[in-house]
This record gives sequence, C-alpha cells and structure tokens, in this order.
Amino acid sequence: MTEQLQVRAAVYRGDPDGRLAVEQLRLDPPAHGEVRIRVRAAGVCGSDRHVIDGEWQVPMPAVMGHEAAGVVEAIGQGVRDLAPGDHVIVAWHQACQRCAECTGGKPWACTRVRSNDSQLPDGTTRWHDADGAEAWPYLAVGAMSECIVVPDFAAIKVDDRVPFDVASLIGCSAGTGFGAVANNAAVQPGESAVVVGAGGVGMSIISALRLAGANPIIAVDVSGEKLAEARRAGATHGLLAGAGLAAGVAELTGGGANVAFEAIGRVQTMQELPDLIRPGGRAVFVGLPPEGQELRIDGLQLAYDGKTIIGSNYGGLVPARDFPRIADAYLAGELPLDGLISARATLDDVNDAFDAMRRGERTRTVILFDGDGDEE
Ligand code: APR
Ligand code: ZN
Repeated sequence: MTEQLQVRAAVYRGDPDGRLAVEQLRLDPPAHGEVRIRVRAAGVCGSDRHVIDGEWQVPMPAVMGHEAAGVVEAIGQGVRDLAPGDHVIVAWHQACQRCAECTGGKPWACTRVRSNDSQLPDGTTRWHDADGAEAWPYLAVGAMSECIVVPDFAAIKVDDRVPFDVASLIGCSAGTGFGAVANNAAVQPGESAVVVGAGGVGMSIISALRLAGANPIIAVDVSGEKLAEARRAGATHGLLAGAGLAAGVAELTGGGANVAFEAIGRVQTMQELPDLIRPGGRAVFVGLPPEGQELRIDGLQLAYDGKTIIGSNYGGLVPARDFPRIADAYLAGELPLDGLISARATLDDVNDAFDAMRRGERTRTVILFDGDGDEE
C-alpha cells in the first residue's frame, strides 16, 4: 500500500504540434479518502484536444485524459464505500461536497473545485516524472494512464455488466450529453430538438433526446458520414451545416425547435444557435470554445422572443445520482452507447486518435488497457 507504482501514461509537455509522449511515471499510493484505480478504458475527448492544441492552459507536464473506467485496486484510509475489485466510472468534476451548491444538488457550480486546475482536493498530485518532478493529471483524472489515484467520491461504482469502454464514456461525453438533455434542458416528450455537431458529445445528446421522447430530432454536421451515424443513433433528420440551416430547421419544426444544443465549441455556431429555436425556446451551450472568445448575440431579439440561453457544465450532472441512471438505461437497451465508439486503440496509438479527431473522422476512440493486476 505504501509503495509507489510505475505506470505508463500519455503526457503533454506543451509540444507545439500537440504530440503526446508515452512516459513512465511514478504514482504515489492513495492518501486518506483516495482510491487507486487500474484503468481499463479511457475515452479520447474533444476537451483533451483543446488542451494539446494550446486552446486551454493547464499545468504541465500533464497526464492527459479524463474519461476513465476501471477497477478499484487499492483504497486509502477512511474509504468506506469502495473496495478492491469494484468497477467504477470516474467523475472529472470533483466538487468540494460541502458548500451550498454541492449540498443543494448543483455540484457542477461548486466554487471551491480544484480538479479544473488538475489538482486533487488538497491541491497536490500523486504523479511524478522520471526526473522526480510533479506531473499533473488533467481534470484531476489523468485517464490515459495505466493506474490513477482519485478522491473516493469521484469514483462511482457501476454495474459489472457495463463494458469498460462504454463506462468510460459515461464519465464524460455520454454523461454530459445525457445531462444536457435531462438536467439542463429538461426536455419533454414531443419537443422538437436540433443538435449542432454530431461528434461524441452531440451523438450522446441525440441518444438522450430519443430516450426523452423528443421529436423531431435534427442532427447538424459538416460531415455527411456523421449525419448518417446520427440517424442510426436516433436522429430523425440530418442537415448539413451552412447558410440555409435556420430555414431548414424552421421548416422541419414549424418555426424553430423547442430546444437546440451546440456540441462543437465554436463561437460561430454558438452565436447562431438562438436562430434555430422558436420564441420561448432554449439554446443550450454544451461545446466549450477556446479561452477568451466572445459571442455576438442580438439582445433585443433574444428578449423580445423570450428565448433562454443555458450554459451546460458537465451536463449539470450529479455523478453519484446520474451515472447509475445512465448505466441502467444502457443495460435496459434504451441508450445505444456502444454506437458512440468508432475505434478502440492502445495507449501507443494516442497521437493517431487525436489526428483522427482533428480530421473529424471518428465519433469516439477509446483507449483500452489490458488490466494486468486486476483482482478479478
Ligand atoms: N458545423 C457543424 N458541425 C461541425 C462544424 C460546423 N461548423 N465543425 C465541426 N463540426 C462537427 C464535426 O464534424 C464533429 O462531428 O462537430 C463535431 C465535433 O465533435 P468531436 O470533435 O467528436 O468533439 P466532442 O468530443 O464531441 O466535443 C465537442 O464538447 O465537451 C465539449 O470540449 C468539448 O468543445 C468540445 C465539444
Ligand atoms: Zn470529456
């Protein structure tokens, strides 16, 4: 329990071409209230790409990845609710659990959160590089590592029947998409919906919209291939992005959708989102743009039409409540999350996976680990 572990992990050191290097790192044992997880699957997410393409600043060297599922391998003192062998999904937003927001059911609004700065709740890290320097797990997860150490409350137990690759996505893209629909927009049966961007997050939104009974469900993307996949996930219509988009949505919905989601993180598509909804509709920002970019929105039109813009951070998720709900819906065959995974890879393929994402080719690549050392 007290020994350090040698782990292979994908590390970003600010390379201008956004390359990661697989390095051997040292991982401290779990401290009080922490657990060590043998990672079995790590999703390659758009947020990681924002970082390695220099759009968001993080402490470096950075252990990349934040969508993880695996098996609890060791527990620190004071951990009551988890035991070695438990299958878990990791939450990357590690709220303080004590403030008014956390106890009021809005942990995503916690102002004392440190995971956004790649720090465990006590402000430290458990990783060290070969020279002994501290390495920082992105979003306090660092999923692209054979093992990770996280606070116990960030490791949510999941039914063993959920495959690790699907479970990893519940920790971010699938969870965010589900939460954006169920929590942020509270979509009702029969509401019309449009989703701009049919990548990992957009496709998760589409499958959650189908579960919520939205109709029609219009997918928008620049890629015809992504639109075809969106149809398979439950979209009733696909529209190519471009000049006639608002008119196309208006035609399919009789004057604009009840609810629209932006799932790319582009300022241009975000500011056009209110044009896709009808008066009284909701526009939900799920995609995250580069730091420091501003939107231009027609204030008079927005007020006059009584439209609502909703910012969605982590889908308004309460992980301990929502991860099991999502897993149950998956196991009941109601959420086709397998369809989100278009490629499975090893840690050594990580740069190829990001290149494929930059080319807009895959919905999700999931990195699989062999799980040596599992106590199963
Ligand atoms: N119009 C419509 N679709 C577009 C456009 C555009 N102008 N540009 C890109 N797209 C599509 C891509 O073809 C792709 O299908 O948007 C999708 C983006 O998906 P991914 O690259 O897979 O990104 P994802 O992981 O889904 O993340 C999207 O959500 O959580 C945030 O940080 C994340 O900002 C990122 C966003
Ligand atoms: Zn993510």
